[in-house]
Amino acid sequence: MPVDLDNERPLAWDSASLDADTKAMLDNLQPNILRAHVREHMSVLFVRFNDVAEGRAFLRRLATTKMKSARHHLEEVRDFAACRWPGTPYVGVGISKAGYRDLGHSAEEVRRFGDPVFRDGMKRRVAIVNDPPVEEWERTYQREIHAVILIGDAERAPVDRLRQEIIDDLPESARLLGEERGQGMRNLAGDGIEHFGYVDGRSQPLFLADEVDKEPRKHWDPAFPLGNVLVPDPFAPDPTRHHGSYLVFRKLEQNVRAFKEIERDLADGLGLQGADRERAGAMLVGRFKDGTPLTLKPRPAGGPVVNDFTFDADDGSKCPFSGHVRKTNPRSFGREVGMARRGQTYGERTDDPWDDSPPEERPSGEVGLLFMAFNSSLLGQFEFMQQTWANNPDFEMPATGHDPVIGQGERDIEVSFPKVWGKPETSVPQSQVAQTVTMKGGEYFFAPSLAYLRNL
Ligand code: HEM
Repeated sequence: MPVDLDNERPLAWDSASLDADTKAMLDNLQPNILRAHVREHMSVLFVRFNDVAEGRAFLRRLATTKMKSARHHLEEVRDFAACRWPGTPYVGVGISKAGYRDLGHSAEEVRRFGDPVFRDGMKRRVAIVNDPPVEEWERTYQREIHAVILIGDAERAPVDRLRQEIIDDLPESARLLGEERGQGMRNLAGDGIEHFGYVDGRSQPLFLADEVDKEPRKHWDPAFPLGNVLVPDPFAPDPTRHHGSYLVFRKLEQNVRAFKEIERDLADGLGLQGADRERAGAMLVGRFKDGTPLTLKPRPAGGPVVNDFTFDADDGSKCPFSGHVRKTNPRSFGREVGMARRGQTYGERTDDPWDDSPPEERPSGEVGLLFMAFNSSLLGQFEFMQQTWANNPDFEMPATGHDPVIGQGERDIEVSFPKVWGKPETSVPQSQVAQTVTMKGGEYFFAPSLAYLRNL
């Protein structure tokens, strides 16, 4: 019986009664898809193969000597919780459509991937998601990328060591086209943050019973079926038991200085005073910097970051419809769009991202997010979220505006903001805030099953 991808019940992966097919799925699935792997330090390598046999042999060696399975990762997490045994580093692989062709799969075969967006590749989707023209992307991404190799760990040294071993093992015929280095950032409470200073990575679709069981679920159910991220791997020996996931990678540069100016100007324009000034940025993101959902509280509440909420009792007077977390997860519908975000921040900061330093002391470039997410449909998830929700000023309600964080495309309508939290009075219509996140390049990949890679 094939693995049930539609089952709404979270997977009790270590249950004695787990069926043989699901066990085989976990033994052949890459880590970091069903559950986030520690990746405080990351190296992301972009490779081009150029020789079928050598490319295949390289990936086979990588899979057999350096990659662990999802099940192995979950066991490591369990052992760490129980006895503080540290786990091993994460090595993940994604192959692009061009990569599959270069590994010897015919155009006919590549059509077995059901996702038309994957079969197009990111360069051909620029107009659809309003990305900058390919000529403006960084050089690495302008080229034809065949594979991405993700290396992550809690410490830097193991990442450096593995990265070197992997580069040394690349065949003569292959080219290392480029590399990104990611490094996690944390606020004083220890929560992971992004460069604008906001807690990030809190709200995720969860697939495993042990993760779901830790979450309060009175209002929002974080449990999602495996089908939100897994699809049968079309080239694996047994696609009913061997699965993979579509991986979107986008380098998103953040102009932190401009974002902080926008927060300041918005607070000034609305006449916000004292602690209430924090609400300006929260209206753009939908959460305060400490992660407090704006729909629940007018001020940062501190404490553990809450995720058990909906927007059902909010007509936009608390959290605007355009707020990033409201746009990308309206919560009352669209669960099928939910994808597993696994990004990491990049770039060095000399300032403290969470403090109150003035905008002039903030970086205006060279820092940002290596956005990565696992999907079962790039068309129905990542691209739908970016194009039909974030880039659409009329999504949910007419003229509410683009997503102020990630929206792309002409921002040609005017919008209003609530002047007082939860009260109907709004500001006079004003231009939408400027775009401060710029896509510098990326690609769509498929993270195949280990069974496929080991059999190359
Ligand atoms: C949540 C920032 C790019 C989709 C968040 C949160 C922050 C954030 C601060 C709140 C933390 C949380 O709820 O987990 C950013 C920044 C980005 C970026 C600074 C770019 C530099 C993207 C992109 C997408 C996206 C490109 C997808 C197209 C989401 C989703 C959530 C989220 C789905 C969770 C919403 C929820 O379930 O409540 N982001 N994000 N983000 N973001 Fe982004």
